[in-house]
Amino acid sequence: MDHEPTDPVIDALRRAVASAPHDVALRVHLGRLLLDAGRTAEATAEAAAALAAEPTDTAAGTLMLDTLRSGSAPVSSATPSSATPSSAPPSIAPAETADDRTSFDWHAAEQEVEHLVGPAFVDDLDDDDPDLPSAFSVEDPGTRFADVGGMEHVKQRLNAAFLAPLANPELRALYGKSLRGGLLLYGPPGCGKTFIARAVAGELGARFLSVAITDVLDPYIGASERNIQAVFEAARAAAPCVVFFDEVDALGQRRSQTRSSHVRGMVNQLLTELDGISGGNEGVFVLAATNQPWDVEPAMRRPGRLDRTVLVLPPDAPAREAVFRTHLRDRPLEGVDVGVLAKRTEGFSGADIAYVCEVAAERALMDSVASGTARLIGMPDLLDALAEVRPSTRSWLETARNVVLFGEDDGTYADLRAYLKKSKR
Ligand SMILES: Nc1ncnc2c1ncn2[C@@H]1O[C@H](COP(=O)(O)OP(=O)(O)OP(=O)(O)O)[C@@H](O)[C@H]1O
Ligand SMILES: [Mg+2]
Repeated sequence: MDHEPTDPVIDALRRAVASAPHDVALRVHLGRLLLDAGRTAEATAEAAAALAAEPTDTAAGTLMLDTLRSGSAPVSSATPSSATPSSAPPSIAPAETADDRTSFDWHAAEQEVEHLVGPAFVDDLDDDDPDLPSAFSVEDPGTRFADVGGMEHVKQRLNAAFLAPLANPELRALYGKSLRGGLLLYGPPGCGKTFIARAVAGELGARFLSVAITDVLDPYIGASERNIQAVFEAARAAAPCVVFFDEVDALGQRRSQTRSSHVRGMVNQLLTELDGISGGNEGVFVLAATNQPWDVEPAMRRPGRLDRTVLVLPPDAPAREAVFRTHLRDRPLEGVDVGVLAKRTEGFSGADIAYVCEVAAERALMDSVASGTARLIGMPDLLDALAEVRPSTRSWLETARNVVLFGEDDGTYADLRAYLKKSKR
């Protein structure tokens, strides 16, 4: 009694969608048929996939709304004829009797949509890789470059520095490009430095070691130095790979600023390892990120160490549009114009925009709970959320301006200088 309801038209449409996954109209059509057949969970999955591809598509939005309305219909155990008709009352919790709840077969429903949605729990860590010590674990490869909105310039630089050389050993040999070097990402908080580093991890998989400062700092004399050494030993063993130090200002503070001798010793050890004196760093790239580049030990930026710097700026309008799309794509939307939102969010960081989307979703959710009727997230929610959030990059740019104006010009902040000049700060 538990097998999939079959319907030749639906099956044919499903095959068509599988071969043209980006055809939103086709997907909406399939979703509509599924909904009419009472297969609500599958219809919801199609609506979500259509909205992910085209967040502003009104037909997809309406379908999502309709599937939300017929919310509690049983899925896979129901044959089309016995399924709840789509004229079910437009309500959420109240329509669901205690009986419905116990008879709803989540397991079967999950199986039915498993080719459309990812599994609920995943275990991506590759436990049986003997080369990697557990303290410096491999990043979760969930984020990819495609998830990062905008930032084309930064993507290009990362591609040239790490991704292309790692992916093309023959070309590397042809051009005699060495497999080593370091790159420092810097810029205002919340603009995606950590985020894009995770995307590099997603692109590289096991060849990315992320080092948390808490893994390295140790109050016992000499222990932090040994930890740094262990990080680089692990990296050399896993080469070719990228080692990522986040918030590197805390790790590599100016030696003159730190009174504590063991932090100083650790910084010295880090410099030694960056030079690869004790073990040759061929195949080890170092990526670091900071929002306080002026606190980073200047010796760390000498040639052969973190010698390349890339400024990660607050997103411009097209990038903000992309960030909005990223953060709205898995949410039920209606009539959202990301162009307008992008225009109104000058000075917002990626994190600010993520927060705006969160607040807007919260408003729609609370409304739906209060009225008992599910509704889609619309422009009014987002515009109200915008009014609540203050852009957070201004104070950083103020500080940066002071450093750039009053500090010596050794070329380190050339792109920051150019940006501040262009934006007349
Ligand atoms: N380009 C982007 N595309 C999509 N989301 C983004 C983007 N930039 C930032 N975000 C969102 O903002 C959040 C914060 O970004 P992230 O932590 O990378 O900032 P950061 O530059 O590392 O800040 P900090 O200097 O404070 O560490 C991310 O988790 C992500 O949700
Ligand atoms: Mg960060």
